[in-house]
Amino acid sequence: MDFEREYREALVLVEGELNSAFTGTMDGPHRELLEAMRYSLLAGGKRVRPVLALKFCQALCGDMEPALDYACGVEMLHTYSLIHDDLPCMDDDGLRRGVPTCHVKYGEWLALLAGDALQAAAFERLAESRRTGPAANGRACAVLARAAGRDGMCGGQYLDLKWEGRELPEGYGLEQIDAWKTGALLEAACLLGLTASPVEPAAEQWAAAERYAQALGMAFQIRDDMLDVESTEEELGKPIGSDAQNGKNTYAAKYGLDRCRELVDLLTERAQESVRGAFERPEFLCALAGSLAKRKN
Ligand code: IPE
Ligand code: IPE
Ligand code: MG
Ligand code: MG
Ligand code: MG
Repeated sequence: MDFEREYREALVLVEGELNSAFTGTMDGPHRELLEAMRYSLLAGGKRVRPVLALKFCQALCGDMEPALDYACGVEMLHTYSLIHDDLPCMDDDGLRRGVPTCHVKYGEWLALLAGDALQAAAFERLAESRRTGPAANGRACAVLARAAGRDGMCGGQYLDLKWEGRELPEGYGLEQIDAWKTGALLEAACLLGLTASPVEPAAEQWAAAERYAQALGMAFQIRDDMLDVESTEEELGKPIGSDAQNGKNTYAAKYGLDRCRELVDLLTERAQESVRGAFERPEFLCALAGSLAKRKN
């Protein structure tokens, strides 16, 4: 298997679709809002979530196409979370995906709305997909809503911000913050891929995808925290040292980089183990977990 080639192949599909998003009404009176949405959506990014959706679909039915709208939807929702995460009232960061953050470029109220509208567009995309049927689309909306909301990304962002600059109280694990703010959406991406597949997943395959995503999500956020310490702004495309400056509760701050590296390796192996045996073609998913563990941005 040629991992790089397969990743590029999935990327081409996603970028092609995203590039044409929101272009239909660009001559409307809200042109600037659409520009701000496209500015953040198309600024690059690794597209990990859409690639996961496409590849889980392919692992099950041999084809990526059925999951293409779901893949775009989860990337829109993720981009909304980034726009809001960067706002002055949250992490107050000025650089994202190598360019000025949405609020730096367009101002706060417009960035807020661009995020809101991207979130709505994500659900629209899932609900109206013609690559899948209405029943699957309904299930897909529920999967994404659960991951994005109170017991998922928003809940995690709440805990992240609530305990900024303070030690976490008894019973509030770092693990809980990361599983919610980051893991939930990565998990949704994987499950959306299975939901799109015309071949129904067996219960064990659904459970295997959940276990893979939970381990991958934790490793992904720990790696993100490490990069905030050890990378450079040029390589990362976002500010470094932001977590320390904001007094964030991170694995890097609590355990140091060496322990973080061990944890990432352990979680990556756990992710890989989860999909081996559960899917006929787990190779790409295993290679993806390995590559994310070593990522530089
Ligand atoms: C950044 O996500 C925010 C986290 C959840 C850690 P990514 O690292 O996937 O950011 P992009 O999409 O590649 O810009
Ligand atoms: C944010 O985590 C996760 C989101 C829900 C966006 P971070 O705040 O660590 O993400 P970055 O480092 O700004 O990308
Ligand atoms: Mg944050
Ligand atoms: Mg942030
Ligand atoms: Mg971070």
